This record gives sequence, structure tokens and C-alpha cells, in this order.
Amino acid sequence: MTTVKQMFSADELAARIEVLAADIATKVSGKLTVIGVLKGSFVFLADLVRALDRAGLPSHVEFLRLSSYGNKQKASGDVVLIGGYPDVNDDRTVLLVDDIVDSGNSIAYAMKLLEAGGTTKIMTCTLLDKPSRREAEVTVDFVGFTIPDEFVVGYGIDYAEDYRSLPYLGMVEKEDA
Ligand code: IMP
Ligand code: MG
Repeated sequence: MTTVKQMFSADELAARIEVLAADIATKVSGKLTVIGVLKGSFVFLADLVRALDRAGLPSHVEFLRLSSYGNKQKASGDVVLIGGYPDVNDDRTVLLVDDIVDSGNSIAYAMKLLEAGGTTKIMTCTLLDKPSRREAEVTVDFVGFTIPDEFVVGYGIDYAEDYRSLPYLGMVEKEDA
């Protein structure tokens, strides 16, 4: 049986995102395009762009879709782009937004894609950072929460496509626990 225990409430997430957006707004100069990594970032991104707007930084929104998981709790390490690639005008700063940076392979892959497409001003943002599991060398400019090595769900984040619609962030028991 899978049980989910709350890690951050909806109110705690909202409060942190307001502060994070204010911080981002002080550090980005010029026009901003936010690129969300699908699917996990969709709820975070929706809240983040509105908080950025309140902080005085409106943005364009694009998405790119990566996959590395299948239906397992452990990433395969092979990251692939599924579907189209976002169109970004070079004079804009890109904020690449993911739900979780774990091994770092996904965000490193997304940065390479954007750099290969000619984007030069790239900043990175994640709701959750799990630094203990890092494999790729990546700089994450903005982090919502640093968390231990727990498998988390909710607030857009899934386990085998379940739990994305939970309004809070929770952790699930390990598969082999
Ligand atoms: P990375 O490539 O190992 O950094 O993994 C990043 C992606 O794996 C995240 O964007 C998530 O989609 C997924 N992921 C990592 N940890 C978790 C977790 O605890 N729950 C659900 N998905 C996760
Ligand atoms: Mg993801």
C-alpha cells in the first residue's frame, strides 16, 4: 500500500514561491521567457509566473517535455526530448523551470538543448533540490526548498502519473520499503 505524508502544505508552498519570485525579479534584467520542463513543473510554473508578475516581472511562457522515468521511482539516467522544442528570441533571458533537480541529468540536458539552439542568457530554477543524489554538474540559480532523498509527489509531481493533482507536496513510501 502507498501512503503519502505531507511535507509542505499548499500555504507553505505559496509563501515560499512569493519570496522566490521576488528574488528572481531582482536578479533578472530585461525581458523574460520562462520555460517549464513538462510535465512535473506545470503547477509550480503556473504559480511562479503569476508571483513573478506581482513582483513586477511579466514573462512569456514556453514548455519543453523531457522524460527519464517511465513508471519507476528511479530515473534511468537517459533523458529524451519528447515533442517540440521552444522558440526563444535571443534577446530574452530564459528561466528554465523544473519541479525537482535530482541527479541533475534532466536540467543539464535541457540547458544543452537551449545552448545548442543559440540561447545565451539562461538561468535555472527548481521547486525542489535533492543535492545528495547529484550526478551531473549543474548550477541551479533559484531553489524553492532543499529536501532529503525522499520520493515526493503532489503539486504537479507524480508517481506513475498519480498524485499530480494533490494541492500539497507529500512523500511516499519507497517501493521496496
Ligand atoms: P534528474 O534528471 O535526476 O535531476 O531528475 C529530474 C526529474 O526526475 C524531475 O524533474 C522529476 O520529474 C523526476 N523526479 C526526481 N525525483 C522525483 C521524486 O521524488 N518524485 C517524482 N519525480 C521525481
Ligand atoms: Mg521533471
